[in-house]
Amino acid sequence: MQIAAIIQKCHDLTGKCVDFLQDFCAQLRSVHVDHLERKWINISLLIIALLVAIITIDAFFHGVNPPSKVETIDSAKLHLSKEFAENNLGVQQDANGDIVIRMVAGRYSFFPKHIAVPAETKLTFRWVSMDVLHGVHIPMTNMSTMIVPGYVAEITTSFPTPGEYPVLCNEYCGLGHNHMWSNISVIAKEDWLAPSKLTANKEIKQ
Ligand code: CUA
Repeated sequence: MQIAAIIQKCHDLTGKCVDFLQDFCAQLRSVHVDHLERKWINISLLIIALLVAIITIDAFFHGVNPPSKVETIDSAKLHLSKEFAENNLGVQQDANGDIVIRMVAGRYSFFPKHIAVPAETKLTFRWVSMDVLHGVHIPMTNMSTMIVPGYVAEITTSFPTPGEYPVLCNEYCGLGHNHMWSNISVIAKEDWLAPSKLTANKEIKQ
């Protein structure tokens, strides 16, 4: 009995939707759209379709995803967390030679305050926020991401030439936002020495 009532309700609802759509299409057809205007509407729709296609192909076939991905972390316990505990921050080189840099953003600085990395080397940065939404931008590189509290933002980059690179917060995070910046020293590959404490801390790595 109840099932029959549900089926009847679904039937009524479908009928209403079809009526609405027919009505909507009739109204659309009755609107006069100039030939040239119609052309431009079609061109805009084509551009939108093209951009959606590019995003879809990049996401599913080239693995291009937002840096924040879905890796979560408890911002309130960052200093207790193994990975982002104070003595585990900064530059680390693992046994395979891969370099991972862990940085914490907080009002109004990036921690550690200063790091040195080698040029022409693949570097993986892992950023977290200890309080509010921050951003990080390093001009002339692909480093530009939001640092959302509760998420780990991971970006892989490399610096082609040695020098001093500014690190800027590019999300408004409070009155001191414009003072939230720091810098990274990029050293010639052959002159760079891996920080020594790192191998000792290897087991702390999450
Ligand atoms: Cu941090 Cu703006």
